[in-house]
Amino acid sequence: MSDVELDVRESEEEAAAVVAVRLARAARDGASIVLTGGTTPALAYTDAARLESDWSKAVAWWGDERCVPPEHELSNFGLAKRTLLDLLEAQPREVHRIRGELGKEAAAAEYDRKLAGAELDLLLLGVGPDGHVASLFPNEPTLDLDGRALPAEARLEPFVDRVTMSLPMLCSAGEVLFLITGESKAEAVRRAFAAPPSRETPASLVRARTGRTTAILDRAAAARLQA
Ligand code: 6PG
Repeated sequence: MSDVELDVRESEEEAAAVVAVRLARAARDGASIVLTGGTTPALAYTDAARLESDWSKAVAWWGDERCVPPEHELSNFGLAKRTLLDLLEAQPREVHRIRGELGKEAAAAEYDRKLAGAELDLLLLGVGPDGHVASLFPNEPTLDLDGRALPAEARLEPFVDRVTMSLPMLCSAGEVLFLITGESKAEAVRRAFAAPPSRETPASLVRARTGRTTAILDRAAAARLQA
């Protein structure tokens, strides 16, 4: 497993700006980019769209999705559509939305087929306060499964069924880029990057198998890392 490069910035805005530059460059280079959900990435997505509005060479994937329609407020695709895709002058040449509305089993099976042979260049991840990544939750059997995409049950708000990339799929990315901000994540950050890998903290198990793993943090999220 490669080490993690930690990049601590003063504020959430600065952390988002660093990720935005990486996303814009990847889009310009025609990369396969895996977007994440939740709330943290919204600022980075909007900044990235401002830095680069032509994503026509890029391919968009999602690390996980909630089993709701795409226009639902809980949809990870919906978040990216509102804060990134709708702001672009040119859409990604491929947008692989996880069709969560099919239900977790059918949607996971369809996404698993889509991911066959896919090479992921830049994988963006948030981390929950419990240390989950994508929809891989602490101590869940999904952590032990191979395959590419899995059905999952939420163990943290929002309690809706999920589809998630598997641990091996996440680690297959050329580069893993965490974006984590806020004091509520400080303990999860310590367990993820300054403690031994553990099934208690799925974020501690995600490292790019052959490439770089970087964590962009703000001071609040980094508060429990040794100075
Ligand atoms: C999801 C997300 C999830 C997210 C973390 C952090 O579907 O819930 O993909 O893995 O990245 O829960 O979420 P926040 O950014 O809202 O703190």
